[in-house]
Amino acid sequence: MSDRELLVSGNWKMNQTHFEAIQFVQALAALLRARPLRTGRALSLHPPFTALRSVQTALESDAVPVALGAQNCHEADKGAFTGEVSAEMLAKLNVGFVIVGHSERRQLFGESDEQVRAKVDAVLRHKMTPILCVGETLDERQAGEARARVSAQLEAAVKGRSRAGVAELVIAYEPIWAIGTGETASADDAEEMAAHIRAELESLAGKDAAGAVRIQYGGSVNPDNAGELLRKPNVDGLLVGGASLKPDSLFEIAQAR
Ligand code: 13P
Repeated sequence: MSDRELLVSGNWKMNQTHFEAIQFVQALAALLRARPLRTGRALSLHPPFTALRSVQTALESDAVPVALGAQNCHEADKGAFTGEVSAEMLAKLNVGFVIVGHSERRQLFGESDEQVRAKVDAVLRHKMTPILCVGETLDERQAGEARARVSAQLEAAVKGRSRAGVAELVIAYEPIWAIGTGETASADDAEEMAAHIRAELESLAGKDAAGAVRIQYGGSVNPDNAGELLRKPNVDGLLVGGASLKPDSLFEIAQAR
């Protein structure tokens, strides 16, 4: 075990109205009051943009020990980008974490490696923590190219950054074939790729920075498989989709060991 804090993040994707979000926070807050998070654990919630303000108010008014997160942002601070939301706007809502380069953004919305890098810049510029997503497709895995794909994504987003900038990142390894499919990478596969990611970060930014980065696993995480994943030495947290939509299931994942 390392001394890195474990971060469990609930990515709601395009789910939950702001009314549902408030009910969720109230239920989660009750669970956390009854059984506070273990020492060395942190939890973040990533609602859709329309629920951010409501979730922020619900968390802050009851001092619920959960960080506010977003799922995406635009790389520019402002401008003629109809329908987009900037990192600056998120920072003003006390957002702490922003998911960047999720595979759904890359695949369904055509986000390029260059754009992902610019989004990481924007998030850091506004003093928030990027959760940078990387991961291979099934074809890439079967062709033995998983590590190369992940290395290329990392390099595109990380190369040339200061050591301090790299140390602040959270990296989420999300193999695309495991997202929403019920098929989880084995804990050993997750650990192997997390160790590979850490080695790549070390070559890009040195041992200290690489040792500080938290590496999450994401893809069909549930209360039954969370403990085994979290026990792996290089897996420092989980990025949870479907199973984060119910307060009790997200809570059990955050408490798993
Ligand atoms: P699922 O947990 O639903 O597989 O989604 C994973 C994910 O994409 C989290 O960002």
